[in-house]
Amino acid sequence: MIGVKIMIDFHSHILPGIDDGSQTVNETVEMLRMEKQQGCVKVIATPHFYADYDSAGRFLDKRAEALHKVQALREQEDWMPEIQAGAEVYFFSGIGRADILPRLCVEGTSLLLLEMPFAQWTRDMAREVQDIIKKQGLDVILAHVERFYEFQKDKKVWNEILEMPLTLQINAGAMRDRKKRNCIFRLLKEGYPVIMGSDCHNTSTRPPNLETGRETLQKKFGDSVLEKIDGLGEQVLRIHEKR
Ligand SMILES: [Fe+2]
Repeated sequence: MIGVKIMIDFHSHILPGIDDGSQTVNETVEMLRMEKQQGCVKVIATPHFYADYDSAGRFLDKRAEALHKVQALREQEDWMPEIQAGAEVYFFSGIGRADILPRLCVEGTSLLLLEMPFAQWTRDMAREVQDIIKKQGLDVILAHVERFYEFQKDKKVWNEILEMPLTLQINAGAMRDRKKRNCIFRLLKEGYPVIMGSDCHNTSTRPPNLETGRETLQKKFGDSVLEKIDGLGEQVLRIHEKR
């Protein structure tokens, strides 16, 4: 196990039968076993939420049902990492004023995992993100930020959004791709607030893989970068608990 602090997976599709992630409770258990083996003590379950296709109410009912199945097992299998429910909310027009957002935050917190569009970001998008933070008072985590860099031919809005008071989540698996890895290295060198997720969907093609991402970062920057990432992870969950 690399690093010494509490390891949290901030992005996972680990709940069964709710999105394109785990399809069965058994698959979820295997994914949790992999998380545990890598030293992860808490997994934030972040199923996809698409406002264009789903209502918040229906999504939350489905999530509660899936979570219940896993929690029932956890009571017998005490080795399992803790699970905290959240959502990966895909950007939509009007999101800045959408009153459903607090219910989609990581449970018990004001943290919203936001998935931006896979396209050139615009000023309007930046304004919406700013409204989520300033008008709604929520704490945005930008999901797998490195995946969007290649779409930003014009870096103005990218820079504007990254300068906002938000947290950047990187995918451990992105370290295998040279361009994405370089983007992550740059963000870390420049001191942006970074936390990590596996974005795991299954046990084979997109498995829990925090360990491999951590190895790459440790080789490049040493133990201190992992301590920083783990420390920030703990901190954001704690300080953004709803008061
Ligand atoms: Fe995801």
